[in-house]
Amino acid sequence: MLPHNSTDQPIAGPLLGPTGTVAEEDPIFALLQAYRQDERADKVDLGIGVYRDSLNRSPVFQAVKAAEQWRVDTEADKAYIGPLGDQAFCSAITELALGKSLAAALDARLACAQTPGGVGALRLAFELLMQMNPDVCLWLSDSTWQVHRPIAEAAGTRQGTYAYYDAQQGRQGFDAMLASLKAARPGDAVLLQASCHNPTGLDLSEDEWHRLTAFCQQRQLLPIVDMAYHGLGNGLEPDAAGLRIMAQAMPELLLCYTCSKNFGLYRDRTGMVAALVQDETLQPALVQQWMQLATRHYFTPPAHGAMLVRRILQDTDLRAVWQGELEEVHTRLRGVREALYAALSKAVPQRNWRFLQEGQGMFALFPLSVSEIEHLQNAYGVYIVSNGRVNLSGFNDTNLPSVVAYIAATVRALESGCYQEQAC
Ligand SMILES: Cc1ncc(COP(=O)(O)O)c(C=O)c1O
Repeated sequence: MLPHNSTDQPIAGPLLGPTGTVAEEDPIFALLQAYRQDERADKVDLGIGVYRDSLNRSPVFQAVKAAEQWRVDTEADKAYIGPLGDQAFCSAITELALGKSLAAALDARLACAQTPGGVGALRLAFELLMQMNPDVCLWLSDSTWQVHRPIAEAAGTRQGTYAYYDAQQGRQGFDAMLASLKAARPGDAVLLQASCHNPTGLDLSEDEWHRLTAFCQQRQLLPIVDMAYHGLGNGLEPDAAGLRIMAQAMPELLLCYTCSKNFGLYRDRTGMVAALVQDETLQPALVQQWMQLATRHYFTPPAHGAMLVRRILQDTDLRAVWQGELEEVHTRLRGVREALYAALSKAVPQRNWRFLQEGQGMFALFPLSVSEIEHLQNAYGVYIVSNGRVNLSGFNDTNLPSVVAYIAATVRALESGCYQEQAC
């Protein structure tokens, strides 16, 4: 909606331009705003993608707290860290993502930059694509994190859509995925998620990662792997399997990594972009590209989060504490999936809830219509993104039974037509 003045004319001026065009509100932040304004004591937020524990808190990891204390005690200056950021942090993340031996084997072919979060990494990766080939098409999955497309648009890339989510079956459709990617041309890029696919929670099997790798090799497609939930699915090693399969075989690949979720550093904007190049002689050119792109966009990334992550990963004791905390997160998410699957299969047996067991990580797409989602919000204060994406960590022992009952009541009411006719 445009802002209006008292004469009801759209406001225009140097800041808003001659037409007064105003950007649309982000739907997930708008939902969060509505949730915050809701005065019902038993409201439930299943919207924004921030992890919550069984007490509905998003506490700072203990390992992060300890590293922050270390930082306060030891940081000697506040000078700029430079466009490439903290390179020791980048090495630690590369090793975490690829595993020690693969990271060492690929080291000379990797050019990395620390970035402001995962979005900073994605933006730099997409900008690089455009610099290398303005005609490139970036292929995104048919259901994807809702910020992927705007970032790609801002970078100016053309976009294609590949099939990923089979809504009828509530599962990932690998054959359809490959079939749709046949339309990609050599040199095009394919955005993939390493694990815990946002929003579906449905990932490729190892066998499918191998087949996809062969497909990309054959058709000379560039994979861009977005790794935003490393460790939240089945643990650090299994969650990295797909990336490692690709990195081992592909001549070139881009990796966008964020520590927002697995270190809980959302607001500290801690991420990395890495380019794996075909030949180590090309590596310095990629370093130059990252330098230039970072300088043009933000000059130098924030130091705080990267320093904490580096400390945690380099210190044996802190690393063990962090791994234990991360383990708790993915164990809890697995437990919520199982509990919800059991409860919803019983309460709403006419819908298929298998995706809860088959998926992993924080998100799942619930088979609910927009009017059912609206009804859940209006009647019961249960907040779900309009595409049905649910943040599973919003469930806990206290609210799970009641939310399941609300879902069952909503489905019953709307299926019988009561809701629309105001008859019940
Ligand atoms: C799939 C995916 N990629 C990237 C990001 C960006 O993370 P960050 O908050 O670090 O920018 C997110 C955040 O939710 C995400 O879900």
